[in-house]
Amino acid sequence: KSEPPAVFHWLPVVGNAVSYGTDPYKFFTENREKFGDIFTFVLLGKKITCYFGLDGNEFILNGKQSDLNAEEIYGPLTTPVFGSDIVYDCPNSKLMEQKKFVKFGLTQRALEDHVPRIEGEVFDYIKGSGVFRGESGTFDVSKTLSEITIFTAGRALQGDEVRAKLTNEFASLYHDLDMGFQPANFMLPWAPLPYNRRRDAAHAKMRGIYLDIIKKRRDGGSEERSDMIWNLMNCQYKDGRPIPDKEIAHMMICLLMAGQHTSSSASSWMILHLASRPDITEELYEEQVQNLAGGGRLGPLQYGDLDKLPLLRNVVKETLRVHSSIHSVMRKVRKPIPVPGTSFVVQADKVLLASPLVTALDEEFFPNAKHWDPHRWESRADKDGEDEEEEGGDVPISKGSRSPYLPFGAGRHRCIGEKFAYLNLSVIVATMVREFRFYTLDGKKTVPRTDYTSLFSRPVQPAMARWERRYS
Ligand code: HEM
Repeated sequence: KSEPPAVFHWLPVVGNAVSYGTDPYKFFTENREKFGDIFTFVLLGKKITCYFGLDGNEFILNGKQSDLNAEEIYGPLTTPVFGSDIVYDCPNSKLMEQKKFVKFGLTQRALEDHVPRIEGEVFDYIKGSGVFRGESGTFDVSKTLSEITIFTAGRALQGDEVRAKLTNEFASLYHDLDMGFQPANFMLPWAPLPYNRRRDAAHAKMRGIYLDIIKKRRDGGSEERSDMIWNLMNCQYKDGRPIPDKEIAHMMICLLMAGQHTSSSASSWMILHLASRPDITEELYEEQVQNLAGGGRLGPLQYGDLDKLPLLRNVVKETLRVHSSIHSVMRKVRKPIPVPGTSFVVQADKVLLASPLVTALDEEFFPNAKHWDPHRWESRADKDGEDEEEEGGDVPISKGSRSPYLPFGAGRHRCIGEKFAYLNLSVIVATMVREFRFYTLDGKKTVPRTDYTSLFSRPVQPAMARWERRYS
């Protein structure tokens, strides 16, 4: 058995960091053409073995806990940001329990309650932010949508107290914490650099805010409702212990950060695509008028309405296919593992890297793959059958890790935020297209390039578009 082929590099430690860091998708596809689906490259002293295609997704995402490990890779980066004793700073079995707690908090009932909160936040933003004054104008799509997304998720998932703080002190704490997600922090998470000091100070303050909210709630200060803090306050580990307040605080910070980049990148790309395709914006608007208004005026959105808006769902789905903000999913190899169906073995000095983006943009699975076309899902056999989470059982294993379309990952580390993300993104976009039409500044059918320089990819900044109010 041999090792997978290695990508050439000039600089010993840096390795291929520059080409991978500037455009990982290009790096993946160029080397895939040369070496096939499996090859190794060097990233800042670490040997990374990529494995793409359906088999690669399956091998890495559904790998056994005894063979592969996520916490060793993600822990150093995330623990200073999220805090201790949760997610990647605890045994995997504890993470599995924590993920189940979060899923309890995303019941249908909670999701139903979230719809008017999200819609209300979007309206408040449109009225109060100053971005949409007058009848038309231009706006910075990424900045605007990342603000809207944090306010909607804040109101719905995090609760009223957190939302109330988002406009002032919390926003700068969030920013300082976020700066902890530097690519360099994979290697040097505790380096005494100014951004790490600010990250640690922000973490301590943010934890204090959550602990204070929890304490006030326990002391009977507010009425119980369907947000995640209340849900976690009512959960118990298998051994009967309630979740310690400190862990609740850390889990809430984790959810805030996990949902924000991914969702705000998706909502920005959606508006940018709609600006490049005013015809689809009109179709989305008409879909609401036809299916929700029954010939009259459009009323407030309700949870059940979303099932009547298939094009809206496909706009979210297609955007997540073309623009995954998570381009690399990594696991540390714990012991030599033979790669089924090949002559290769991956040794324990390697990190494995999967990128579902590679299959999502592969012509073999999606004809004209680079083209954003929400209508493509209408005729696909897998239109309803994409990777769904399995209910029950101790580990949230998903069925479909051999799918070419895995924007939420698969296996034991699969995303638990999918339902909330779909709801949040759908309500944001539905509300925006009721109010506005969007256009590119130059009238062309193009969207900005992708910026890969931060850990999560997003449109190159500033990504501007033009808006026009539908009615005055
Ligand atoms: C995990 C994508 C929204 C919480 C993941 C993973 C992916 C992903 C690909 C797997 C990572 C891996 O295997 O290493 C997305 C996308 C989102 C989104 C594309 C939005 C469009 C959210 C939201 C939340 C959330 C809103 C919180 C409510 C999590 C958590 C994990 C995760 C806690 C767990 C990781 C683990 O078990 O290691 N997400 N996510 N995500 N996501 Fe999301």
